[in-house]
Amino acid sequence: MAPFVLITGAAGLIGHYLIKTAPRWAPQWDVRGITRQDVDLTDAERLTGVVRSLKPLAVIHCAALSRTKDCEQDPEQARRINVDATAHLAQLSQRIPFIFLSSGEVFDGRTGWYGEMDKPNPINVYGQTKLEAEQAILQNPGHTVVRIVLTAGISETGDRSFVEDMCRTAKAGKDVTLYADEFRCPIPAGVIARVVWELVDRKQPGLYHLGGNERLSRWEIGETLLPWCPELKGHLMKGSARNHIGSPRPADLSLRYDKIQNLLSFRIPGFREWLAGRSRRGADLWDYLDGSP
Ligand SMILES: NC(=O)c1ccc[n+]([C@@H]2O[C@H](COP(=O)([O-])OP(=O)(O)OC[C@H]3O[C@@H](n4cnc5c(N)ncnc54)[C@H](OP(=O)(O)O)[C@@H]3O)[C@@H](O)[C@H]2O)c1
Repeated sequence: MAPFVLITGAAGLIGHYLIKTAPRWAPQWDVRGITRQDVDLTDAERLTGVVRSLKPLAVIHCAALSRTKDCEQDPEQARRINVDATAHLAQLSQRIPFIFLSSGEVFDGRTGWYGEMDKPNPINVYGQTKLEAEQAILQNPGHTVVRIVLTAGISETGDRSFVEDMCRTAKAGKDVTLYADEFRCPIPAGVIARVVWELVDRKQPGLYHLGGNERLSRWEIGETLLPWCPELKGHLMKGSARNHIGSPRPADLSLRYDKIQNLLSFRIPGFREWLAGRSRRGADLWDYLDGSP
């Protein structure tokens, strides 16, 4: 039997892509995904039993309360899964490689183009819990944290990525307001999966940033998606973060990613470039197997 990697959050957006892309990008690994149905990670006793019986040789931890709004509404639940369960799982994985997906939301977004050496300063509950989890994980020099940003893709449940959110809203006949003064470096989930699989084998633990190589405003992202998602036509509204109501949102979460790029066998694409490449090849927009530009 091949050595196996345990993936948490397997029913979520990125966990699902990791599982689907493993035969292509990590054929040397056997993969087992666990979902909330298999084990609620906040049940520490059960989690301990599952990990001890499965005996994985590496763990990729994707499970989280990943929506900013949900974390703001229930900070205690956010802490239980994002910090406590994560720290516990890392502890259970102390002798094996452990990769944790964190977020650019650990920054306040005032400057943008954040590097790994920049000082985090979260402005919402989600960012705060991610930062605390990172601090627990990075105490182990064999473990890895990858901070990612706005992730595009198609989930099994159809309600996980920002693209799915936008399309669902538009299909319901509602307008989608996109801020022209809020910036991200969107990246497809297939690209993240390919990067993470390469990282598993590089054996170079530590803290990494991973974003697409193009900084776009939310408004530009919406315009870019229009030819691909016709349902958005007539429903995109240009807005400003100055009028935002709700949980605090960092203005600019562009990330410098040269540290991780130097480890990879391929170049991380920009979002528009990635979409254009797919258009040229007539590829399916969210093809699971394709993490290339
Ligand atoms: N997607 C992005 O744009 C983005 C950006 C930055 C960072 N990240 C981080 O990347 C990681 C993966 O993100 P994602 O987009 O794949 O998230 P996702 O689609 O929300 O998936 C997270 C998964 O975790 C599961 N989960 C939550 N609480 C759990 C619990 N107590 N026990 C077991 N499973 C539990 C969820 O199960 P249910 O379906 O049952 O709720 C869900 O399947 C997360 O750590 C996220 O914070 C994502």
